[in-house]
Amino acid sequence: MKIGIVYGGISAEREVSLNSGEEVFAAFDKEKYDVVKIRIDGMEDLAKCKGLDFAYIVLHGRFGEDGMVQSVLESYNIPYTGSGPMSSALCMDKDITKRVLKSAGINTAPWLSVASMEDIDYDYVDSMGYPVVVKPNCGGSSVATNLVKKKELLDDAVALAFQYDNEVIIEKFIKGDEISCVILEDKVVSVVLIKHNAEFFDYEAKYKDSGTQETVVRFPVELHNQILDMANLCWKVCKCKVMGRVDMIISEGVPYVLELNTLPGHTKNSIFPKGVQGAGISYKEMLEIITQASLQ
Ligand code: DAL
Ligand code: MG
Repeated sequence: MKIGIVYGGISAEREVSLNSGEEVFAAFDKEKYDVVKIRIDGMEDLAKCKGLDFAYIVLHGRFGEDGMVQSVLESYNIPYTGSGPMSSALCMDKDITKRVLKSAGINTAPWLSVASMEDIDYDYVDSMGYPVVVKPNCGGSSVATNLVKKKELLDDAVALAFQYDNEVIIEKFIKGDEISCVILEDKVVSVVLIKHNAEFFDYEAKYKDSGTQETVVRFPVELHNQILDMANLCWKVCKCKVMGRVDMIISEGVPYVLELNTLPGHTKNSIFPKGVQGAGISYKEMLEIITQASLQ
């Protein structure tokens, strides 16, 4: 079976994807499979996937995690990792994701989505209360994401996020424990608690700061079960497939869902493989489980 590791891409998370792709290629079982690297430097490179029996996608962000690549692979009739085009597109869009979660009764922080600077409803942001987190609507890895503590700094943060997207999210900052529910074969296999030295889990804390610690945790039974149920419900309502992460903040015992990640990072520093390993599954076994589950 010929498997292509599809990585790189053209989003702001290209560097993360390049690292993810190299890790995946190095660990893949090359005795069992004919494994090739397919590095994407532009959309036309997707044609290199023709002839593959399976595409292991480790692209992040736009044109990779957002359903576009999945659609192209469908048109080539090539099976691929994880979620389909609709769920990928849905989970890439933080505003739409939050609307869907809210409609399913899932707790998520108040937010405002703006398509221009003129859309900023300062009174509404005041009513949510500062600090707020400003992010590109279809971003990832906290690129161009900023914590805004007072009104006077809001415009600059929104303008920066607009450099990466034509929609921006202004979300109430929920102070609490940041956790990630790691999903494999469509169920939560571990809950990872993230401890970092930054004010929020920014790009630096995610990939550069050796002081960041991710540990598999169990909360008191009732809260833990609530977290598992919530993550599994998010997965179900967004119709995601096989593997990914549901990120939350637990504030005073109340979970708030931040977002779903349908193509989580596979780097050494990434939460997803750490959570899987915390469930007793090696990195190499994880690749095999994802491949087989995606082929079903
Ligand atoms: N967006 C990054 C790659 C992650 O979720 O791991
Ligand atoms: Mg994300």
